[in-house]
Amino acid sequence: MLPLESQPETGGHGEAEDRGDARAGRRQPIPLARPVLSGNEGTYVRECVDTGWVTTGRFIGLLEDRIRELTSAPAAVACATGTAALHVALLLADVQPGDEVVVPSVTFIAPINAVRYVGAEPVFLGCNDFMGLDPAVLSDFLAEECRPSEEGPRDRATGRIVKAVIPVHVFGNPCDMASIADTCARHGVPVIEDACESVGSRWTSGRLDGRHTGTVGEFGAFSFNGNKIVTAAGGGMLITRDPAQAERARYLIDQAKDDGVRYVHGAVGYNYRLSNVQAAIGAAQLEELPRFIEMRRRNHALYAEALDGVEGLRLLGVPGGTAPNYWFYSLLVEPGQFGIDREALMVALERDGIQTRPLWPPNHLQSPYRDCRAYRVERASWFWERVLSLPCSCDLTEGDVREIAGAIIAAGETAS
Ligand SMILES: Cc1ncc(COP(=O)(O)O)c(C=O)c1O
Repeated sequence: MLPLESQPETGGHGEAEDRGDARAGRRQPIPLARPVLSGNEGTYVRECVDTGWVTTGRFIGLLEDRIRELTSAPAAVACATGTAALHVALLLADVQPGDEVVVPSVTFIAPINAVRYVGAEPVFLGCNDFMGLDPAVLSDFLAEECRPSEEGPRDRATGRIVKAVIPVHVFGNPCDMASIADTCARHGVPVIEDACESVGSRWTSGRLDGRHTGTVGEFGAFSFNGNKIVTAAGGGMLITRDPAQAERARYLIDQAKDDGVRYVHGAVGYNYRLSNVQAAIGAAQLEELPRFIEMRRRNHALYAEALDGVEGLRLLGVPGGTAPNYWFYSLLVEPGQFGIDREALMVALERDGIQTRPLWPPNHLQSPYRDCRAYRVERASWFWERVLSLPCSCDLTEGDVREIAGAIIAAGETAS
């Protein structure tokens, strides 16, 4: 089974379509997450085509401006993908081969791969009730498992320097960034927020009241992959507080050109720029973001209501003091209490033409990383065994949600 994020949005849709039509025979299949492109996307892309500005052009700056306006981030740099933005953030944080980077075990694998791109080693930590990096575990790790050194906290077990921490705002739910940022500041470790899934999510109380995810750490990364709340047909955004770092990022993502005309390069650069056509789609999508969040919030409430009281099922809520973007809906299926387990429910729904996906396997158990250090990863497997992501596209109707909830309940009853 492919990880959820790597399901192409149309491919996933097509897959459900074949089976849905064959088995259900009554309606279009319901995909997990498809993009809704009903705003100015076509007009903006048309402009790119008509003017010939398809690779570079005004929409890249517009997309960056819109992200800065939305989040109040001082600087934003459009990148080819969210993974590229994370990779560049690690380079800017000066993470070197042999360094250590703290990551959660519960996340899509991209931020962990980015750690390896710079030759560093991930250390896996456990999660809280909303699958975000547990601030207490992080605090204990840095205080008890590391000793201070001039270069930063040194992990006593490995001898490596902890050069960065990457919290991930899983499925759009903001982590407890106030605690995480305090802990990291105390130990002198930069934070790179993986906000790839949480464009538009923010805190609504406490010290971070009004702040958007991705803007609290030294760096943040957004994704505009096809399954995200807003898409740019792929794409990402690097957020930084430091304009000089933003300039460095622009240099690195464009092959590190010292003299672009004479092909003089001053560093190992990358081809990580976003195209103007993609930025055009992204800029149009951002115009729809408030409406998209409202649709997803409404549908989350509808799912919660429709599944309320069903034994063995619980829809994961949202952390207090936050206004998330409700990107993905996590249904917790309690084995032995609901009629069937998470895996069987996914298969049953697929037969009904309803596409769902399991949570990612704990990353400290995935083959590229099973030899890495893991510290108090206590709940990743628990969530993995239970979480099923339900359809969440912004054009899901109230009727769709009720039908999906009905199919879930029926699947449990049929089995028991
Ligand atoms: C948590 C997380 N981090 C990073 C990424 C990488 O983003 P992209 O696919 O744009 O490279 C994704 C999703 O795709 C993600 O869900």
